[in-house]
Amino acid sequence: MVYLYLLATLLFVFGIKRLTSVRTCLQGNRLSEVGMLVAIVTVLLVGTDVNWAVVVAGIVVGSGVGLVIAKRTPTTQMPEMVAALNGFGGVASALVAMAELLLNARLKLDGVALGDLGVVPAIANPATIIVGMVTLTGSFVAYGKLSGKKLSHPFDGGARHAFHAVLALLAIGMATWLVMTGSHLQMTFAVILLALVASTLGVFLVMPIGGADMPVVVSLLNSYSGIAAAFAGFVIASPLLIVVGALVGASGLILTQIMCKAMNRSLGNVLLGGMGGEETQAADAKDYKSIKSTSPEEVAMLLDGASSCIIVPGYGLAVAQAQHVVKDLADLLQKRGCQVRYAIHPVAGRMPGHMNVLLAESDVPYDQLWEMDRINGDFKNTDVAIVVGANDVVNPAAREPTGPIAGMPILDVDQARTVVVIKRSLSPGYAGIRNPLFDLPNCLMVFLDAKEALEGIVKEVKDLK
Ligand code: TAP
Repeated sequence: MVYLYLLATLLFVFGIKRLTSVRTCLQGNRLSEVGMLVAIVTVLLVGTDVNWAVVVAGIVVGSGVGLVIAKRTPTTQMPEMVAALNGFGGVASALVAMAELLLNARLKLDGVALGDLGVVPAIANPATIIVGMVTLTGSFVAYGKLSGKKLSHPFDGGARHAFHAVLALLAIGMATWLVMTGSHLQMTFAVILLALVASTLGVFLVMPIGGADMPVVVSLLNSYSGIAAAFAGFVIASPLLIVVGALVGASGLILTQIMCKAMNRSLGNVLLGGMGGEETQAADAKDYKSIKSTSPEEVAMLLDGASSCIIVPGYGLAVAQAQHVVKDLADLLQKRGCQVRYAIHPVAGRMPGHMNVLLAESDVPYDQLWEMDRINGDFKNTDVAIVVGANDVVNPAAREPTGPIAGMPILDVDQARTVVVIKRSLSPGYAGIRNPLFDLPNCLMVFLDAKEALEGIVKEVKDLK
């Protein structure tokens, strides 16, 4: 059995490793799925008193619900789905710790305290409940915010931090009571109160963070769900759970770090509520002086003479579900001898890898996807850059020393000979600020839904002699 655990662990490790590249990520997913299957089967084989009816019902219902949700969720709602799954992961670990405490035969004997069982259970049990419940409620607040719900914190500034500190102290108090008490009845109360306080803390910690910062929070909560699982591994003495939890915890933290870096924000700034805050004053049409609007027909004529083109996908591409038509355009241009590449900004869209997932859906070859650092130097030698539903990730205001996106790395589309921006209006992107790119002499705007605009361009390019 030890070998099976080892096999599952290795499958998870190699699965995560393969997830680091678009080329191998599907394989990585499959490896991790097999790892999960091996882990579940091994746990069941090792277990005594397994209630097979409950286990089979759990597998059938759980897999069925998961399958339906995964099939039905559109790519634009992936962040919400990930948030919900993190929440479930957190509560699963918390439930393991609660069950262990409330059913443990030794602890049911009055006079035996959790602290008497050693340092590991005394730390791991309350920690699993706290981290797991914070993850559950925090994730569902994130879910609400991602789906556009306005949830604001009742307190501001110092009062807010004091309120969170009181809740954290209450949680520590409950945890201490849970560890010290030798009465099973008191322990039961302590478990329930600890779960309630931690749940409340989760709600209020995530509440003040701006809706648009939620993807960062979701990856942080993903990391928390891993940490809760690792603690749960100590609770039930499962090395496999400890390893897998630590893998998820560490990779979630690394992802959070990558996203913060790509937005040039510190984690503290995100958590304390910064740019993503609801109060941002949005820019609009009156902030622009020399907008040049154009049509799909004129863009087709421009592309007729182009020998190089870089397509920059953004959140609007996902909203319009224009991933297939953008590929049609790229194929068409390539057939006409134009070099076409896609420039991918690390935080384009609303979740990590959003654009990669979207373009993979329409079978865009991986070698046409170029990361920001690799392609930025090439814009100056490019005839046409087509920005499809992207805004902040191409906003030259990021090069200013101050401002909400100051210092954020951007795609240098303004250096291309001509830039075509496809979006429906002059309304701002996620940061809510003016984009000076739109006023530049080499920038042309197509004010249409991305799919409609691209379909129009494809049609006109086909009609070109
Ligand atoms: P945004 O800056 O949000 O701009 C998207 C643009 O798409 C909007 O200006 C909108 O303009 C346009 N749009 C929406 N629906 C459209 C449609 N149907 N057809 C055509 N255009 C449409 O997106 P971005 O450039 O991808 O930048 C992402 C932002 O999200 C960054 O600021 C980033 O920091 C932030 N963020 C991302 C992540 C991750 S992990 N991806 C995490 C946290 C924060 P109109 O309304 O005028 O059409």
